[in-house]
Amino acid sequence: MSLLLVPVSGRHARDLQSLDAEELITHVPLPALDPRDGILAFIERAQRLRARGAGDTFAVCEDDRLLGIAALARAERAPDRAELGYWIGRAYRGRGYATAAARQLLAHGFERMRLGLVFARCLDSNRASLRVMEKLGLRFVALEPSDDSKEPMCRYELDREQWNDRRPFLTGPERRRSIAAVHRPRPKRPRRGGQPS
Ligand SMILES: CC(C)(COP(=O)(O)OP(=O)(O)OC[C@H]1O[C@@H](n2cnc3c(N)ncnc32)[C@H](O)[C@@H]1OP(=O)(O)O)[C@@H](O)C(=O)NCCC(=O)NCCS
Repeated sequence: MSLLLVPVSGRHARDLQSLDAEELITHVPLPALDPRDGILAFIERAQRLRARGAGDTFAVCEDDRLLGIAALARAERAPDRAELGYWIGRAYRGRGYATAAARQLLAHGFERMRLGLVFARCLDSNRASLRVMEKLGLRFVALEPSDDSKEPMCRYELDREQWNDRRPFLTGPERRRSIAAVHRPRPKRPRRGGQPS
């Protein structure tokens, strides 16, 4: 799988629409999303957030095909913290895309946006999203009331220190291979004129 995360723009509007933009707009709890928005307003809002450094919203693509959206939005009162959100079109679910996209986004958040903490929220009944958070190494911290449902939201977090500790396991097979290469014990060279000690 080789996913590309591209800043969302007007050229993604039609593909988002055909992937069921309504579900995206009503299901992903991010400040960039307002349930009253249409898809174009969502894209414009995401671009404004990006322009003022308040967050990044990416189209998740594979071979020029749009699969979904992944986003980080800084918390208004604590800008070194950001909320992670993701949405994958129904046709593409269950193939690891959300986990892979969110992994790339965590690296972007901690390494490029210099975040101290990433948090994510979803309904307790959203087993797929809870599983994605677990696979990413986020930790459950609290149940919070939700704005539009009686069911509480589960809040998960990962801070910079936990990210650094888990980075070898979170950044995918390429990173794991290079780590394995660094730590592989080197065979001892025979001493000149003698046997290896
Ligand atoms: C949540 C969502 C992004 C997951 O996308 P995805 O690409 O299918 O996710 P992945 O394939 O990376 O991982 C899904 C995991 O959940 C598991 N899963 C899926 N449905 C499940 C269910 N009903 N119960 C338990 N686990 C479930 C999958 O088996 C997989 O885990 P595994 O790799 O251990 O087998 C997608 O379902 C979605 O877009 N939902 C609507 C939007 C949403 O809820 N966003 C999150 C709110 S922040």
